[in-house]
Amino acid sequence: MKVMVGVSGGIAAYKAVELVRALQRHALDVRVTMTRAATRFVQPLTFSALTGHRVMTSLWEASADASSDAPIDHIAEAQWADLLVVAPATADILARFAHGLADDFLTTMYLATPAPVLVAPAMNSVMWEHAATQANVETLRQRGVRVVEPDAGQLACGMVGPGRMAEPEQIASAVLGALGRSHDLAGEVILITAAGTREALDPVRFLGNRSSGKMGYALAEAAQSRGARVILVSGPSSLHPPIHCETVRVTTAEEMRQAVLARQAEATIVIKSAAVADYRPVAVAAQKMRRSGPLTLELQPTEDILAEVARRRAPGQLIVGFAAETEDTVQQGRAKLLRKGADAIVVNDVGREDIGFDSDDNAATFLTMSTAIDLPRMSKRKLGDRILDEIVALRRPQSLLVEMSSAEMESLREQPAPPRKAILIE
Ligand code: CTP
Repeated sequence: MKVMVGVSGGIAAYKAVELVRALQRHALDVRVTMTRAATRFVQPLTFSALTGHRVMTSLWEASADASSDAPIDHIAEAQWADLLVVAPATADILARFAHGLADDFLTTMYLATPAPVLVAPAMNSVMWEHAATQANVETLRQRGVRVVEPDAGQLACGMVGPGRMAEPEQIASAVLGALGRSHDLAGEVILITAAGTREALDPVRFLGNRSSGKMGYALAEAAQSRGARVILVSGPSSLHPPIHCETVRVTTAEEMRQAVLARQAEATIVIKSAAVADYRPVAVAAQKMRRSGPLTLELQPTEDILAEVARRRAPGQLIVGFAAETEDTVQQGRAKLLRKGADAIVVNDVGREDIGFDSDDNAATFLTMSTAIDLPRMSKRKLGDRILDEIVALRRPQSLLVEMSSAEMESLREQPAPPRKAILIE
């Protein structure tokens, strides 16, 4: 979704930089317009570097599209935005909005946009409490403008009282609320693994699998847009991680294990959607292997990262696995849930041709020891949200499986698998 941030000329303009970052962390596409006075406090360059778009400061500048000489079309920009948020909103900009003046880009855009408008006032307490300002705010409220009330506290002018702009995270929450986006994962740190791993056979070949990473990346985007901080540990994938999502790239199962264990302590929730190799070659050939008839490879099991993460969990940390099954999906999934000691497992029927690997859609069953929730076919992005809904529901204190997951599951932990031989015929 697209948000226009309007910055007017007050000392709190520097906090608009943090607001832009906060909105971007929630996967919003952000552009900025500044009043001329605002450019005295913060350089437009700061915002253009952050957003990748030219910052609009005048009705008479060239277009934001660098390839065009046409003046910026304020009507098009006004139509572009799903929401306009003005932070800081000075007494002057509130007065100009209230009176319908349209003498610069921001005021013109305010009149031209059909999108919801939010203002975060910031000014000296006497100016805030002045009857003129209060009347203007009231007028704006009556016209549907949402006001993120200023805080009381020490002001830049040295006075103490109401007028300090609300914190950027608070304004970002109000923006998400106005956009109808839930912010229920704020404060959570979610470690998500995605895509498949690769185990080298020689310098040019590897054992891999068909996982594209789409499900894990969709989960990362959904979690981030609901306010979580996401750490994405990804195997090789052609996908772009969501902007501002901290991404750790790995190749092998062992690298994924090391990356996950190194970051586990930070996480409140771990979601293991990666398709991790179960076996790796016992030896990796230093030179490219030559063709010489049938070939027998000796493989050894990799560590089960999910089971290890579940063993090392901190109190309250939720562990959610994935299971790819081709038959008896619920039964197999529940057995895996017990074996690995996770709180829940998302079971995919990978035998279905219409969904799964590389598809944009998926269907799954969200399994705990006491429930099996059917999540019918939908886009992976939507499914990401549904899975997160179910994970959030696990936080309810009466959840049975949180109780199950410690002592009882301890005894059911998976035994290491024996070495297995495989034949690779080129
Ligand atoms: N997993 C893991 N480490 C491994 C193998 C799997 O962490 N070495 C995790 C996956 O990320 C997933 C879950 O375990 O969350 C189940 O993966 P799956 O491949 O379905 O299960 P396996 O343990 O491989 O069991 P099996 O091959 O017997 O079905």
